[in-house]
Amino acid sequence: MNDSRAVSDSDPAALRAVAVTVALEAAAHVRRRRAELFGSDRPSGGEGHSVQTKSTDTDPVTIADTESEDLIRSRLGQLRPGDGFLGEESGASHGAGEGGVGETTVQWVVDPIDGTVNFVYGIPAYAVSVAARVDGVSVAGAVVDVASGDLYSAAAGLGATCTDADGAVTNLRCTPVSDLGLALVATGFSYSAERRAIQGRLVAELLPRVRDIRRVGAAALDLCMVASGRVDAHYEHGLNPWDWAAGALIASEAGAEVRLPAGFGDDGEIMTAAAPGVADEFAAVLAEIGAAAPVPA
Ligand code: IPD
Ligand code: CA
Ligand code: CA
Repeated sequence: MNDSRAVSDSDPAALRAVAVTVALEAAAHVRRRRAELFGSDRPSGGEGHSVQTKSTDTDPVTIADTESEDLIRSRLGQLRPGDGFLGEESGASHGAGEGGVGETTVQWVVDPIDGTVNFVYGIPAYAVSVAARVDGVSVAGAVVDVASGDLYSAAAGLGATCTDADGAVTNLRCTPVSDLGLALVATGFSYSAERRAIQGRLVAELLPRVRDIRRVGAAALDLCMVASGRVDAHYEHGLNPWDWAAGALIASEAGAEVRLPAGFGDDGEIMTAAAPGVADEFAAVLAEIGAAAPVPA
C-alpha cells in the first residue's frame, strides 16, 4: 500500500459516508423486521419465539439483531474490504486479521440494534450504530433512530448533523446549560443485577443534584440526545465500545466533553458526555458520590 492510499483509507468524510450508507440500510431492515416479527404497532412483551437471551435472562437478542449485524458486516466487506470489524453479536473478525484489525488501519465498530429491550417491547427508542475507528479512536460514525428515521452522523473535526426522515439537516450543538442543578441527565443500567444494584444507589445520590434523570434504554440515542440538546449529559458504567463508538463522536463533535472507558464493559468503567458548561461540575459531583470508580458486575 502506498502513502496516498493510506491517507484516503482513513479519510473521516469518506468513512462517514460509508457509515451512513450501511446504517441506513440496516435500519430499514430492522424497521421491516419489527413489523414482520411482532406486528407494526403491537407491543410484544419480553418473551416469544424471536427472542433469546445472552449475558443474563434480562439481556435479549433477536433474530433482527443478528440479521442487522450480518447485513452491516457484509456491506462493509463490499465497500471497505480491507478493514477490521468488531460487532456486538459476532465479535471481532473480518476478512481481516486478528482482533478485528484488517489490512487498513480502520476498524468498524457496530451495534446492530442498540435498545433491543425497547425493540422487543415496541417502545420507539432503538437504533443502529456504526463507527469507524483508527487506532481505537472514532473518526466517523452514524446512528439511525429506527422508529423516527432520524440519522445522526459525525466525522472527526467536521461536526455532527441530524438528517430527519424528510431530509432536513440540522447542525448539532449541546445545550448552553451552565448550572448542573438545572441539567437533565440520561443514564442506563447494566444487565447484571449486581452492577445495577450499585448503579441504583449511585443514581439515587445524583438525583437531588440535577434537574432530573432519563432512562431511555439506548445508549447510542442517549449520546445523540446530548448532541442535539434533548438532554444535557449522559453517564453509564459498563458500556461496551459498540454502545458508544459512534454516539460519543457525535456528542463530542456537537461540543460535548466526553470521557471514554479504556476497554470493554466487563471493567465497569464509567463513560460520560456532558455539555461543556456543566462538564467539570458533573465530573466533580460524580467523583463526590463515588461514581467515578468502576462498578463491578
Ligand atoms: C443496551 C442499551 C442500554 C444500556 C445497556 C446497553 P443493547 O444496549 O444501550 O441503554 O443501558 O447498558 O447494553 O443491549 O440494547 O444493545
Ligand atoms: Ca448496545
Ligand atoms: Ca445491541
